[in-house]
Amino acid sequence: MIKKKSLSPVKLIKYYNLINHNLIYNNKAINRYKKDSFAITSDKANNLEKLRKSIHNIKNCNLKKDAINMVFSDGNPKSKIMLIGEAPGANEDEEGLPFVGRAGALLDKMLAAIDLDRKKVYISNIINYRPPDNRRPTDEEINRYLPFITKHIEIINPKILVLLGSTAMNALIGNEVVISKMRGKWIEKKFGNCKTSVIVTFHPAFLMRQPAQKKMAWIDLKMIRDKKI
Ligand code: URA
Repeated sequence: MIKKKSLSPVKLIKYYNLINHNLIYNNKAINRYKKDSFAITSDKANNLEKLRKSIHNIKNCNLKKDAINMVFSDGNPKSKIMLIGEAPGANEDEEGLPFVGRAGALLDKMLAAIDLDRKKVYISNIINYRPPDNRRPTDEEINRYLPFITKHIEIINPKILVLLGSTAMNALIGNEVVISKMRGKWIEKKFGNCKTSVIVTFHPAFLMRQPAQKKMAWIDLKMIRDKKI
């Protein structure tokens, strides 16, 4: 019969130290990009506040270091129409609101043309902090903010989702599509529990550079106006 030998407490401590038991038993995964995730409830205002805090808590983001303000959203969270742009510019960074510069003035005109305004829609961007010199956000930056805008869509739960420009389109539909082929079409998409009709149209900043394309944007706007929701 093998006699069980019990170790004295001192020997036991030495043994645990020897096998580095802290590392073995307390070794939690180090997750640098730990998501500040939360369950969406029926309290929209509270969900939005939690999302705002999650974005505020993003760590090691260079965009954040250079920006003045987080640009979260504008408009009516109860709206059935949500618009998503690319990223804040200098004016948006200063005011902490999306589309308040020159592109925003054109967006307001586009909305007014179909009898909408900021009280009737909800507006956000793929990225919540201004990229320096208004450069396009990198793929890494887009991937980092994608879970947040996806959750934003899920919280607002719009019937119509308008993607303004190719950055929003590629981030939310995929990189294989091009705006000239995608604009002016309804596609049904699911973001979490939110099922929505998506339409892509040109970004107002692009329309300022290419005014000839405004006639195409007008077609898209009329489709939004005429959509039964
Ligand atoms: N362009 C965008 O895509 N978003 C803004 O908020 C402003 C300009």
